[in-house]
Amino acid sequence: MTTRRALDDFRLRFGDHGPEVVPLMLGGMGVDISNTDLALEVARLGGIGHISDAMVPTVTDRRYETEFTKEKLKKYKYNVKNSDKSAVKFDLGMVREAQKLHVEKTMARKTGAGMVFINCMEKLTMGAPKETLKVRLEAALDAGIDGITLSAGLHLGSFALIETHPRFHDAKLGIIVSSVRALALFLKKNSRTGRLPDYVVVEGPLAGGHLGFGLDWAQYDLKTITAEVLRYLAENHLSIPVIPAGGIFTGTDAVEYLEMGAAAVQVATRFTVTKECGLPDDVKQEYFKANEEDVVVNTISPTGYPMRMLKSSPAIGSGIRPNCESYGYLLDANGHCAYIDAYNRAVETTPPGDKLHVWDKTCLCTHMRNFKVWTCGHYVYRLKDTTRRYPDGTYQLLTAEHVFKDYQYSTEHQIRLPDPEPQPPQKAKGRAAAPETLADDV
Ligand SMILES: Cc1cc2nc3c(=O)[nH]c(=O)nc-3n(C[C@H](O)[C@H](O)[C@H](O)COP(=O)(O)O)c2cc1C
Repeated sequence: MTTRRALDDFRLRFGDHGPEVVPLMLGGMGVDISNTDLALEVARLGGIGHISDAMVPTVTDRRYETEFTKEKLKKYKYNVKNSDKSAVKFDLGMVREAQKLHVEKTMARKTGAGMVFINCMEKLTMGAPKETLKVRLEAALDAGIDGITLSAGLHLGSFALIETHPRFHDAKLGIIVSSVRALALFLKKNSRTGRLPDYVVVEGPLAGGHLGFGLDWAQYDLKTITAEVLRYLAENHLSIPVIPAGGIFTGTDAVEYLEMGAAAVQVATRFTVTKECGLPDDVKQEYFKANEEDVVVNTISPTGYPMRMLKSSPAIGSGIRPNCESYGYLLDANGHCAYIDAYNRAVETTPPGDKLHVWDKTCLCTHMRNFKVWTCGHYVYRLKDTTRRYPDGTYQLLTAEHVFKDYQYSTEHQIRLPDPEPQPPQKAKGRAAAPETLADDV
């Protein structure tokens, strides 16, 4: 039987006296896809919006005209042709400054009853995993972020990195897991800090971005994992809000989880086609156009996690030179990234004069930065049913407010179409090449 309730019949509250918000969380979408404008709009409407701190120095360069990436490249330019990247390091002061700027500028504009959190992907190891993560977390807290969600590559000791920070108990801290096992492990390791997560996002196999599953993702389902997590918490007398994510496409989908005992839901894909979203408009049209067979889960991310994306993503097969001197966000503590190996193998096997392709991995830093990895949730192919079409076949962009309110008030799986708008003038396609990278690299 389909429920007639709407998401607006529920509220999320952290603790007995915490603020009450609409139980809709916009998931973090790096690099700058869930940008400041989108997260702020969700907070204004009373929900929780996530910005992301993925590649934050290059994000502030683009938004606030800093020159962090240019300076880093200047320092390490001598190493560009060297496949040993162990010398390439982030200046921690620069990371701190960039993160503070990103968060402060966002929080300064915040309005409404909702909250703004930051998504920190721990797989962005940045050549010094612990040191850089600690700085990112501290700087976000210093700059007044309402909460931090630790994701992709969750390190069991991350809370301990900030346990002496004055805001350790006041900011909301959450984690993303894809199994009850991962949650149990985190809680066990973290118990020493005497602080439980304020919420747990349970991300299922239909989500966008990196997946916490193998290529057998289709054998799992979010409802089952959510039920397992809820049962585990109840059995252990732990009262932590559970927030399922991945494939929650209608307000009624969300209500079904709240009726199971979830505290809120996290969504992302429906917001990728909003005006506020950081993707270029021509990429938003690719998301609208997508059909089910255009979506793939592959292993081209050097992080080692499978990732869901459109098969037409320009990053797939691209053979650009590794850009670690400018970026290097995926370098591990030894200066290693799986793309460098894949690139070197391709250089060895490509006959002189032929175009270089790298199929097994991609330079995720460069391509995420330039919006060439079209990562999306499984239901991206349903986006076309959420809007109107212009006579030339393109789709009308939505506002974040429209999508938010559709989740909040819709019943019986209905999706309200936006009021018709005249077609905006066509813009030039794509974005300019990254100014801070070497011209032949992009
Ligand atoms: C374009 C895109 C980028 C994403 N990037 C990230 C990310 O940087 N970090 C993260 O933890 N999750 C990321 N995700 C996952 C979302 O935050 C969210 O949990 C998930 O996509 C929800 O499922 P839905 O897209 O079906 O609503 C991304 C999702 C999308 C669609």
